[in-house]
Amino acid sequence: MFLDVTIFFFPAKVSFYRRLEQKKMSYLVIAVTISLLIFYQFQKKENLTIIPPREVPKKHHDVCTVQPLSPKEGLEEKLLLESIAWPETPSLLTPLSLNETSYPAKSTFTILPQTGGGQWHVGDKLKVLIKMCDFQGHPKKSGGDVLFARLHNPTLGAGVAGKVEDHLNGTYSAVFSLLWEGSAWVEVTLVHPSEAVTVLRRLNSEQPDRVIFQSLFYSGSISETTICNVFLRSTEQPLCNYTDLHTGEPWFCFKPKNLNCDTRINHSKREVKQNLKANEEKLFQLGVNMKVSIPASGPASVTVLPRQKAVNSSNMESGLSGYYYKDEWQTLSGTKVQQFNTPSAITQCLKGKVVHLYGDSTIRQWFEYFNGALPDLKEFDLNSHKQNGPFMAMDIPNNILMTFRCHGPPFRCHPVPISELRYIANELDNVIGGTNTVVIFGIWAHFGSYPMEVYIRRLQSIRRAVIRLLNRSPGTVVIIRTANPKALTLFESLANSDWYSLQNDKVLRAIFKGLNVHLVDAWEMVLAHHLPHNLHPQPPIIKNMINVLLSYICPIKSG
Ligand SMILES: *[C@@H]1O[C@H](CO)[C@@H](O)[C@H](O)[C@H]1NC(C)=O
Ligand SMILES: *[C@@H]1O[C@H](CO)[C@@H](O)[C@H](O)[C@H]1NC(C)=O
Ligand SMILES: *[C@@H]1O[C@H](CO)[C@@H](O)[C@H](O)[C@H]1NC(C)=O
Ligand SMILES: *[C@@H]1O[C@H](CO)[C@@H](O)[C@H](O)[C@H]1NC(C)=O
Ligand SMILES: *[C@@H]1O[C@H](CO)[C@@H](O)[C@H](O)[C@H]1NC(C)=O
Repeated sequence: MFLDVTIFFFPAKVSFYRRLEQKKMSYLVIAVTISLLIFYQFQKKENLTIIPPREVPKKHHDVCTVQPLSPKEGLEEKLLLESIAWPETPSLLTPLSLNETSYPAKSTFTILPQTGGGQWHVGDKLKVLIKMCDFQGHPKKSGGDVLFARLHNPTLGAGVAGKVEDHLNGTYSAVFSLLWEGSAWVEVTLVHPSEAVTVLRRLNSEQPDRVIFQSLFYSGSISETTICNVFLRSTEQPLCNYTDLHTGEPWFCFKPKNLNCDTRINHSKREVKQNLKANEEKLFQLGVNMKVSIPASGPASVTVLPRQKAVNSSNMESGLSGYYYKDEWQTLSGTKVQQFNTPSAITQCLKGKVVHLYGDSTIRQWFEYFNGALPDLKEFDLNSHKQNGPFMAMDIPNNILMTFRCHGPPFRCHPVPISELRYIANELDNVIGGTNTVVIFGIWAHFGSYPMEVYIRRLQSIRRAVIRLLNRSPGTVVIIRTANPKALTLFESLANSDWYSLQNDKVLRAIFKGLNVHLVDAWEMVLAHHLPHNLHPQPPIIKNMINVLLSYICPIKSG
């Protein structure tokens, strides 16, 4: 009612304040009024009919499967799972002994000589052989270790990710593209021994509910808190079924004893359960067998000479997104990265645009970056929790609107009101789109603890919404942020290890392949950089990501 009145009087208010000729004052009033209008839009939900959540009858308690959206998507799921199948990893005895598990300090890498015994030139490939050994120094005989590789030159601010291949017999290759002249140093990191993968894999099939969520239910003077998740284990307690009617995304809470299912008001993360068998935690020791460099058996660097022949593009095909040179991210194909070094360059690019950001805290970081970098972009105080959002910022003179909203459950967060907990697919269905609309999302960091099917299903439903959006408004710019490696501890590994992210990331790329969407390759941008891996990459990396992002939004017009 109040909002309708505001809409009605809006033109009158504007002309009234124009007559006052108090520019600042009128801007303020316009800003507040527009904010309310936009906020109303922002709040609007498509389904206005209220259907009360259904209570699940007691006998149907084993809710541990996610149904694919359709037979076609079911088949895609099967193919995706096959394409990311990780090699078999050793089964573990209890109590676990580290003796025969992979140990980076006793493993080595060797730079293989250039084919033909010649020297290396820009455009060549550098190949490295990695031999894994256990704590007793014996060569490993099976694969499945999680290895990262990077080639870099600190003085040139250069770095590129390597591609690791598992030979399944305890040896691995890493292949690097040589992209700059001068020295190039090889760095190989054991992220997890294969035995840790055995544990991570078991946890997701046996304990997909180990990250525990809760909801507060409230009515009158009664309040109760119960546990919620994508799956809940069988008990005698009835469940409330909050499966989204539009996307079909499953979500359940135990029914409160004295309240109805429709009295749920809050969602938050409660705790992460750690249920490891004896000594298994020893497989996750930072600096011992988790995120540790593997030493070189000989030289760890090569000297790269200038390119020998004319550019042979088939030799350059690397499957890489890009590399750092002078600390600036360069792409290897597609959109050229421009440097947006001043607030006015960024503002110029965003002028007249609506930018919607959706996802986890790694997307929130971008909202925060813009908000900090652009003095004219003013954040409207929506009274949101500073980690959950939603957020909204505006630059009225330049007609820029920027919003951030977190993704739906299983969002691991401080209490968020149920009305603010929305699925990205549903939000996208409420975007009009068009050439002045930019839609950015990133959803990965909260999915590691589930079977892959949960993530596949979520992305398939987002893809459907992206296809609908691009169909009704083909000019909409859609940008997806990939996952990235992060700092690991035992706790972080169990909740969302890089191994989970690596697998999820492959799925994300496959699902959005072939659509008119752009990727910001956070994975390579963090892996190739000299700064330590971090869930929330440090400012120099974020700045590079923002340059990539803005280069997609404002590409150089080809003459
Ligand atoms: C939950 O609700 C969805 C949507 O109505 C339904 O398809 C599903 O079967 C329900 N699940 C259970 C366990 O009742
Ligand atoms: C592990 O190796 C040490 C030293 O070689 C040995 O003393 C110990 O018995 C081994 N433990 C197991 C469980 O094999
Ligand atoms: C491991 O497999 C690779 C690729 O098949 C092979 O070239 C290499 O000789 C094998 N190494 C060992 C130690 O078996
Ligand atoms: C480029 O390299 C590929 C593979 O090494 C080779 O087959 C091809 O003939 C080369 N093309 C040119 C134009 O040199
Ligand atoms: C949400 O839940 C927390 C407890 O989990 C509670 O303290 C808080 O008051 C709730 N917020 C609202 C808006 O009800």
